[in-house]
Amino acid sequence: MADTTETKQQSIDYSQRIPNNVDLSNDRALQRALEHWQPAFLNWWNETGPANTSALQVYLRTAVSVDRDGWANFGYVRMPEYRWGIFLTPRDENRKITFGDHKGEPAWQDVPGEYRSTLRRIIVTQGDTEPASVEQQKLLGATCPSLYDLRNLFQVNVEEGRHLWAMVYLLQRYFGRDGREEAEALLQRRSGDPNNPRILTAFNEKTSHWLAFFMFAFFTDRDGKFQLAALAESGFDPLARTTKFMLTEEAHHLFVGESGEARVLQRTCQEMHDSKLTDPAQLRAHGVIDLETMQRFVNFHYSVTLDLYGAEISSNAASFYTGGLKGRYEETKLGDDHALGSDFYPVQETENGKIVDRQVPALTALNARLRDDYTREIQAAVDRWNRIPEKFGNPFRIRLPHAGFHRKIGNFAGQYVSPDGHVLSKEEWDRHSTEWLPSDGDHAFVGSLMGRVIEPGKFANWIAPPTRGIHGQPIEFEYVRFS
Ligand SMILES: [Fe+2]
Ligand SMILES: [Fe+2]
Repeated sequence: MADTTETKQQSIDYSQRIPNNVDLSNDRALQRALEHWQPAFLNWWNETGPANTSALQVYLRTAVSVDRDGWANFGYVRMPEYRWGIFLTPRDENRKITFGDHKGEPAWQDVPGEYRSTLRRIIVTQGDTEPASVEQQKLLGATCPSLYDLRNLFQVNVEEGRHLWAMVYLLQRYFGRDGREEAEALLQRRSGDPNNPRILTAFNEKTSHWLAFFMFAFFTDRDGKFQLAALAESGFDPLARTTKFMLTEEAHHLFVGESGEARVLQRTCQEMHDSKLTDPAQLRAHGVIDLETMQRFVNFHYSVTLDLYGAEISSNAASFYTGGLKGRYEETKLGDDHALGSDFYPVQETENGKIVDRQVPALTALNARLRDDYTREIQAAVDRWNRIPEKFGNPFRIRLPHAGFHRKIGNFAGQYVSPDGHVLSKEEWDRHSTEWLPSDGDHAFVGSLMGRVIEPGKFANWIAPPTRGIHGQPIEFEYVRFS
């Protein structure tokens, strides 16, 4: 029997099943590693991926090459048959390291021994977020507000699966046995499992309804974008090229989040306009999500996402930078010495009950800096959201809370900071926190609106239709087939 199994395994052509531009068909070691890992990945997908979906046909894009026409091939796919591939942006033979102690040296094509364990940790931490988000979103399909949204959820899910593949490729190709063990462990941890949780806290939170999903895709996927962008500057060239290609897919996830919440806002503002109501309880009775509740979800998802940047002041971040492992956002566009040895950067902290700016060595403040870059982009997107109430003549505006609000990591951990940036006592915080963060009642209310709408072109009452369909298809297109 053993022989038959072996013959059968060898007859699987992994280079066909796994679209790739890493010359998989000539890389026996990688093929062997994937022969073990790919079946385990499929088990993981079937167990913890989107529930009850194995028979569905979903109108998905699949990357089959990195060419302009190849990275987004649209068509109906049964999700377990999705072809998760391995893609890196093409290699630039002349690429140099652009920052840190190795600035000017040729980019590394192999892992430098001195950075081996650090690089592995960086890759594992990034890789862990990808399956985690799929696990968090497992049950959302049962309460989709439309076929269009259901398809977008599944698109995000399969691509987060591919991002896991991207990181596993690096581990298996460049890190030998430890890499293979880490690749296995990525399939064993589970979001929210007290015994074997995902590495980062935000990826152990529940995503129990679609408002949380849109907020997650808006706030937390965008952290992913900034982390990937910083890794795309890495001196370790395969990591830079892998993350660059992941960023092309990430843009759609951000769109799903931003446009999803915009449509919820649109629907509520329309209802407020038509019914002339402003009272949250009355609006809830009309089956829409009141703006105050949306603001509480913004406060929650923004603050837990800021924690993903780590402590504002971090010697790890400094050594990642001087080592040439992780750059700044758009490193090559910045006009300084790319060594930062004598630069300073302002970070905030509390002092005698007030929030103050302090200048610290820029090298130690790289987490704060990446977070600030992120916040600038998030603020611009929130400004776009706010054009919706403005258009209706509604004075309500979504506001980002202060960076110190509801933080568990960094300078504000253990502090009680209000959304408008006042340092409070614990008693004051306790008196107000339900005004600022979603309560169980808020979750129960939003959950109560979630029903399953799967008639093509129809949308749940709490959300407006999108302005256009996917890939030039009409809004009423049958994005998911159930047989
Ligand atoms: Fe991702
Ligand atoms: Fe994503």
